[in-house]
Amino acid sequence: MTPRQALLLLSAGIAAVTGRSTKPNFIFIMTDDQDLHLNSIDYQQSVQKHFAQEGTWFKKHFCTVSLCCPSRVSLLTGKAAHNTNVTDVAAPYGGYPRFIEEGFNNDYLPVWLQDAGYNTYYTGKMMNGHSITTYDNPRINGWNGSDFLIDPGTYIFYNSTMTRNHEPYRNLPGEYSTDVVAATAVGFLDDAIAASDRPFFLGVAPIAPHSETITTPKPARFEPPVPAKRHEHLFSNVTIPRTPNFNPDTPGTASYFKTIRQLNQSEIDYNDNWYRRRLQSLQSVDELIDSIIDRLSDNPEVLNNTYLIYTSDNGYHIGQHRLPPGKSCGIEEDVNIPFFIRGPGIAKNAIQTIPSSHTDIVPTLFHLAGMPLREDFDGEPIPVTSEMLACNDKSEHVNIEFWGDYLVEGSAFFGQNSFPNNTYKTVRVIGEQYDLAYAVWCTNDHELYDMTNDPYQLTNLYNTNGTLNGWPINKLASRLNGLLLTLKRCKGRVCIRPWEKLHPEGDVKNLKDAMDEKYDSFYLQHQHQVTFSECALGQVLSAEGALEPVVWQNEWDEWSWAT
Ligand SMILES: *[C@@H]1O[C@H](CO)[C@@H](O)[C@H](O)[C@H]1NC(C)=O
Ligand SMILES: *[C@@H]1O[C@H](CO)[C@@H](O)[C@H](O)[C@H]1NC(C)=O
Ligand SMILES: *[C@@H]1O[C@H](CO)[C@@H](O)[C@H](O)[C@H]1NC(C)=O
Ligand SMILES: *[C@@H]1O[C@H](CO)[C@@H](O)[C@H](O)[C@H]1NC(C)=O
Ligand SMILES: *[C@@H]1O[C@H](CO)[C@@H](O)[C@H](O)[C@H]1NC(C)=O
Ligand SMILES: *[C@@H]1O[C@H](CO)[C@@H](O)[C@H](O)[C@H]1NC(C)=O
Ligand SMILES: *[C@@H]1O[C@H](CO)[C@@H](O)[C@H](O)[C@H]1NC(C)=O
Ligand SMILES: *[C@@H]1O[C@H](CO)[C@@H](O)[C@H](O)[C@H]1NC(C)=O
Repeated sequence: MTPRQALLLLSAGIAAVTGRSTKPNFIFIMTDDQDLHLNSIDYQQSVQKHFAQEGTWFKKHFCTVSLCCPSRVSLLTGKAAHNTNVTDVAAPYGGYPRFIEEGFNNDYLPVWLQDAGYNTYYTGKMMNGHSITTYDNPRINGWNGSDFLIDPGTYIFYNSTMTRNHEPYRNLPGEYSTDVVAATAVGFLDDAIAASDRPFFLGVAPIAPHSETITTPKPARFEPPVPAKRHEHLFSNVTIPRTPNFNPDTPGTASYFKTIRQLNQSEIDYNDNWYRRRLQSLQSVDELIDSIIDRLSDNPEVLNNTYLIYTSDNGYHIGQHRLPPGKSCGIEEDVNIPFFIRGPGIAKNAIQTIPSSHTDIVPTLFHLAGMPLREDFDGEPIPVTSEMLACNDKSEHVNIEFWGDYLVEGSAFFGQNSFPNNTYKTVRVIGEQYDLAYAVWCTNDHELYDMTNDPYQLTNLYNTNGTLNGWPINKLASRLNGLLLTLKRCKGRVCIRPWEKLHPEGDVKNLKDAMDEKYDSFYLQHQHQVTFSECALGQVLSAEGALEPVVWQNEWDEWSWAT
């Protein structure tokens, strides 16, 4: 017998004695369009009590594409959107039918977990385009129990459409969506606990605080989210935080941001009401959390072996940089989102600033479940436990991408459903001495923000003469360009360790190393630029300039020649 076989036999023995699997369980709670930067979690006492106090908050967690469907597909596959090529909410570039077309129905998280011995359950929204016409054509795979919110009722808070275990769908007039999802989640939790010989994954995806969205007739109409009646009276004097980037006196510097006019008072009032509706709608999510924790508390040995995650698919803005309510931008409000995890080995009441993203979540679950990582993962495990933190070497960048238009929500005041020219590539780099955001738009506008000193992204440093972290801006931008170029089409290991691709000798591990002046001519003169020839609505490679970076060659080291 090999040691590994002995170990397997031993753990099977433990399971036989305790009647429980030794693999951990997962409960994954994901809200829809929840912000971090508009302080929504300050209004959620249950998130504070059961996640912030009982677990670790990864404050620098990002979605890699700020739109529901692409973000969820990336999350469920561990792959960047440029590799799933599910980049929109609807055809031709996105939606459930694209997920099927790309073959993920047989190759994504719940299927992998079932193969590894898990029972899997899901309730709430899966992704856009999962509808009364598509839910059975074909069925989504991988779930032992499911009760999905589907279109056209996904976003109708008091008249949702749902399909349970692939049965004919039903409309639920008068029932509150989040309450239905909460009750279903607890029911699945009971099933999961009863089937004690297998570990479980339970996904819970309520719709709050997404706008109430009427999808037919087209174009979709966006109204403020509808809270449960019992929460309508709350927060009546609360307004959107008046941060320095809230409806500022000067417009932004890239693409359509340059042309958005300042909001007037009636628009600000409208937005403040929208904001209150979001906070009210999240109170039902708090109650959902309470009912899950209550049920786990009745089963301490299950709670003890369960990781719980709280996050959102993407962020949200209302009024920052003068924007109407919405997501899909690369600004911090849209991409830096809540991410809390608690469970065995995870520090309580702790905050981490190690950068992480939704593409890292599946690799993290694999790691915690003792499953070997797949080579096609574009992310890597987040060091969530103290054991993982002790040998953390997670990389310092997060790659963020977007293709398509900006959908205006709350169109009441803007007379316009969308803004064009919202295709862009962004990289966030968060090291010990720097915190940077660099973006290239399909209009070929560039942005560079020093997120340490300018967290509201008001001063675009690109093409200025100053320095950042002691580095001349043009030299810094040249490295960020090289990094972004490497990430834009990366796969697997290259996405995780992009500097290895640029510097195969392995001596450059991060931005700081790449700033060595011996690489100046490589990055300033020999590297391709990230460029676009048009604002395509999807990943059309012919519009995206150079696809691969130039790799470093020693002969460009003018300094070694000089000395
Ligand atoms: C869940 O589904 C998997 C895969 O089909 C199956 O092996 C397992 O027995 C199911 N679990 C239960 C409790 O039915
Ligand atoms: C609920 O939604 C269904 C399907 O969209 C619709 O036919 C029905 O009229 C709605 N009911 C109410 C009370 O709005
Ligand atoms: C709202 O009202 C409450 C109670 O009157 C008060 O404590 C709170 O400071 C007010 N909040 C704001 C944002 O004005
Ligand atoms: C604000 O702008 C909207 C749209 O142009 C207009 O309908 C509204 O009357 C304006 N409100 C104020 C207070 O100026
Ligand atoms: C939970 O796990 C810890 C460490 O593994 C153990 O000491 C404790 O007794 C367990 N508690 C319960 C209720 O199972
Ligand atoms: C979109 O970008 C193109 C190319 O830069 C530009 O010509 C056009 O004016 C932009 N449109 C809007 C509405 O910003
Ligand atoms: C940068 O410096 C150069 C040379 O000192 C000067 O000509 C140029 O105007 C400056 N540019 C900006 C944007 O300040
Ligand atoms: C992504 O999908 C779209 C729509 O099917 C297609 O036009 C495009 O070529 C694809 N891009 C890549 C890189 O595969």
